[in-house]
Amino acid sequence: MCTIGGMIANNSSGMRCVKYGTVRNYVLDLEVVLADGRVIHTGKKVLKSSAGYDLTRLFVGSEGTLGVITRAGLKIVPFPKTRKLILAFFDEADIASHAVIKVFSEGITPSACEILYKTTLSVLKLCNSRLAIAEEADMILFEVDGTEISTDEAARQIAEICKPLALSTRIVSGLEMQDIWAARRLVGAAISQLDPHKTRVYMGEDVGVPIKEMPALIRRVQQIAGKLDIPAMKYGHIGDGNLHVALFIDVADQLQWEKLRLAADRIHRAALDLGGTVSSEHGIGLARAEYLMEQLGWDAFSLMHSIKRALDPKGILNPGKMGFP
Ligand code: LAC
Ligand code: ZN
Repeated sequence: MCTIGGMIANNSSGMRCVKYGTVRNYVLDLEVVLADGRVIHTGKKVLKSSAGYDLTRLFVGSEGTLGVITRAGLKIVPFPKTRKLILAFFDEADIASHAVIKVFSEGITPSACEILYKTTLSVLKLCNSRLAIAEEADMILFEVDGTEISTDEAARQIAEICKPLALSTRIVSGLEMQDIWAARRLVGAAISQLDPHKTRVYMGEDVGVPIKEMPALIRRVQQIAGKLDIPAMKYGHIGDGNLHVALFIDVADQLQWEKLRLAADRIHRAALDLGGTVSSEHGIGLARAEYLMEQLGWDAFSLMHSIKRALDPKGILNPGKMGFP
């Protein structure tokens, strides 16, 4: 689903950045072809450098608007020895997000911390019908990794913290864990398989808020989807404050399109209102171009635009993206 170059251009992340950080944390040096054809290197293959502006980070997440990334020097880390999942099931997503906040407040950093709503669990089952997961509750999937001893201890602690709030908890490892992850990775694409007349549309799908605002964001999204009567599957990287809302419509129906646009707009604005971002991991591109200025404020947006003009005066690199005129 992605290439290393694409991930760098987008500063992508995924399931494990809650512990390991986003792509940005792994890029040490980039070879970049500039708009006028010159080729530069932005850094060195060293773990730290205090030499001048951080050009590497300028290009990471620039979505092809400042130069073309042709090579990358990356930091790599070994795989952990052990991994385990703690599945915790809750009556309400609101309670689930409180459990997540409690886990982090205790100083435990899971290697992944995902939420899957009841409705999205049916998509997980669609990806693999053998999964022993009931669909009557909202699920938090915590993953812990490390040595065998530290993993067992963290899994026990997380289950203990969740118990007073959860309907049930279960620790999973081995093949079952692999099956759950494989199904989770397919969820975004598989939503469109739920109903032959409906398609998942990627709009308003990637908002993020400070983690303490997650319960408020969840409530706002439920209200928005409820009022417009539009199905919204919800899942995402709750440990990062990143919620994926999958709006799901009959794309041949104009009225549903209008509702979808309105819902996506309200979801973006709810995130901004709660001090968050319109895109936590999928990027700005065209779909969110109109919100970048609003999110950053005029002065910061103008500064970004000045950088764009300085590096690409003729506007030939990915024109129209990010809302630059
Ligand atoms: C996911 C990707 C699509 O979380 O962001 O499934
Ligand atoms: Zn995601």
